[in-house]
Amino acid sequence: MAILDKHAILEKSPTLLLTFSLLVVTVGGIVEIAPLFWLENTIEKVEGVRPYSPLELTGRDIYVREGCYVCHSQMIRPMRDEVERYGHYSLAAESMYDHPFQWGSKRTGPDLARVGGRYSDAWHVDHLMDPQSVVPESIMPKYAFLADKRIEADHIEDLLSTHRLVGVPYTDAQITSARADFRVQADPEGDWDGLVERYPGAAVGNFDGQPGLTEMDALIAYLQVMGTMVDFSTFTPDETR
Ligand code: HEC
Repeated sequence: MAILDKHAILEKSPTLLLTFSLLVVTVGGIVEIAPLFWLENTIEKVEGVRPYSPLELTGRDIYVREGCYVCHSQMIRPMRDEVERYGHYSLAAESMYDHPFQWGSKRTGPDLARVGGRYSDAWHVDHLMDPQSVVPESIMPKYAFLADKRIEADHIEDLLSTHRLVGVPYTDAQITSARADFRVQADPEGDWDGLVERYPGAAVGNFDGQPGLTEMDALIAYLQVMGTMVDFSTFTPDETR
């Protein structure tokens, strides 16, 4: 009882209550958050996960700009219904180079975490131009204007450098060749060897089916890599973590 009586002192003085609350929150915060700064392995390293290619990264920015996340999540939960519908549950490592991450929680449309490779580029073009032409009951808006919007590589080195600043391990070579990689990925006549060496598994080709680089090319390059980096036929989770 005595200790509860002492607590009354705190309850009666706003200043004391505030000071002590702050103290408690600070201690709690330090205990919870501080270790994360020193832990090397909060995210299990997974083979195959790589930074986005310059064109994919540009497509990702368009995805964010257009608010695709308002209707689409990118996180498959480990429940059976989700795994059967969308594929292997999402790993933390798969979004470790996403700034900001696109997990989301709203599913007006299906989860897109593993949409890469599920449809052809041509399907994506048709679908983005006019979703109802391929899925009649769809309520997804049309994004046909993306096919008319030309994109240039003007700021691509800066974009990669900025991501490097927040921890994405882009190498100097990747930044130096960013401009060329940006253009070659959607060039059907291009020599993709260097690009694919720097960004293994990158989808290549004329995504939007028309000459020149458009936002549609970049967005489809991004959609086609989603969830394809990890080879789940050989992946075994580290049970000790
Ligand atoms: C108003 C909500 C809404 C917005 C915004 C939206 N979508 Fe959708 N999306 C849907 C719905 C509903 C479906 C399911 C029907 C269909 O396939 O069109 C869908 C389906 C898809 C599919 C096929 C997924 C699959 O597994 O079959 C892709 C890919 C897709 N959307 C990409 C996008 C992209 C990229 C954007 C942003 C440019 C976007 N969506 C914005 C609602 C939306």
